[in-house]
Amino acid sequence: MNVLNKIKKFPFVLAPLAGYTNYPFRLICRQYGASLVFTEMVSIYTITKKNLIKKNSHFFYFSKKEKPIALQLFGNNPDLFYEAAKIGQEMGYDIIDINMGCPVRKVVRTGAGANLLDNLQLAEKIVKNTVKAVKIPVSIKIRIGPTEKKNVYLDFNKMAEDNGVKIIILHARTRTQGFSGYADWKHIENLKKKSRLFIIGNGDAKDRNSALKMQKETGCDAVMIGRAAIGNPFIFKEIKNKNYHPDLKEKIETALKHFELFYDFARKRAIFEMRKFFGKYLSDFPYAAKIRKELFAIDDYEQVKDYLKELRKTIIL
Ligand SMILES: Cc1cc2nc3c(=O)[nH]c(=O)nc-3n(C[C@H](O)[C@H](O)[C@H](O)COP(=O)(O)O)c2cc1C
Repeated sequence: MNVLNKIKKFPFVLAPLAGYTNYPFRLICRQYGASLVFTEMVSIYTITKKNLIKKNSHFFYFSKKEKPIALQLFGNNPDLFYEAAKIGQEMGYDIIDINMGCPVRKVVRTGAGANLLDNLQLAEKIVKNTVKAVKIPVSIKIRIGPTEKKNVYLDFNKMAEDNGVKIIILHARTRTQGFSGYADWKHIENLKKKSRLFIIGNGDAKDRNSALKMQKETGCDAVMIGRAAIGNPFIFKEIKNKNYHPDLKEKIETALKHFELFYDFARKRAIFEMRKFFGKYLSDFPYAAKIRKELFAIDDYEQVKDYLKELRKTIIL
């Protein structure tokens, strides 16, 4: 079955989130039902240098159980995109996604990410080379446009259609908005009406109701969920099954499992990096602030696990 058919079966996917969507978190989201996961954005410079791949192996590691998985690339150089996409395909990813939406200064400064929205010609060269390089589907992740006054998504849709892109992901904000304000879903609806491609809507799907609402109101082929999934992989199962709600025991057990996977993968770094997930997993526990304070003061693997196991006992009692 091709990737798009797999996504159609349950059209809710995990967004690329720098600093979050690495192997352990992606695997857990897949296990809770996300039909596609994305790596965090990876530079075309990094993936085309053997020594940098080795140094940054945590960006590239994935397990077969995560498949289908998309590799997201960012950069500004069409020739390197060609090489990078080829390498990504060889590594076994199922989709190559091109980042045209990141508004972060260190990315846009180089003309990459959301600054490509100002440069359709360069974006087209990048797309052409990427599509030429691989047999697997290529997607682009864009925003509405650079500013409120300048929408470019329909121009990018035409460019994508003309050059063999299969999927467009539209984060329905402008570059200047960053992550503020709200996502204007009418642009997703408009894109879906005008495009021949597979459209993934993104922005402010915060819970089961809003994710289903985006799907219904815009008619998009799939909904992408980002921030709402952090420490809350349960969201995918909640969307699938309206009677399902994780209880505190399941939350803590999933947090523990996530931590164990993370530690096996990243060792000591996992202890610190898990904190941003723990905060969310445990946010609706009684005395959450006290728990966070105590848990974040521990920097030993076994002690973190013991703390969580004790906490589980107090819940079960
Ligand atoms: C911490 C963080 C990291 C992100 N990293 C990426 C990234 O690497 N690549 C990307 O295309 N978008 C990235 N995004 C944007 C998300 O993929 C998504 O488009 C955005 O958060 C809107 O969706 P949401 O409302 O469901 O969170 C990031 C967003 C956040 C909050």
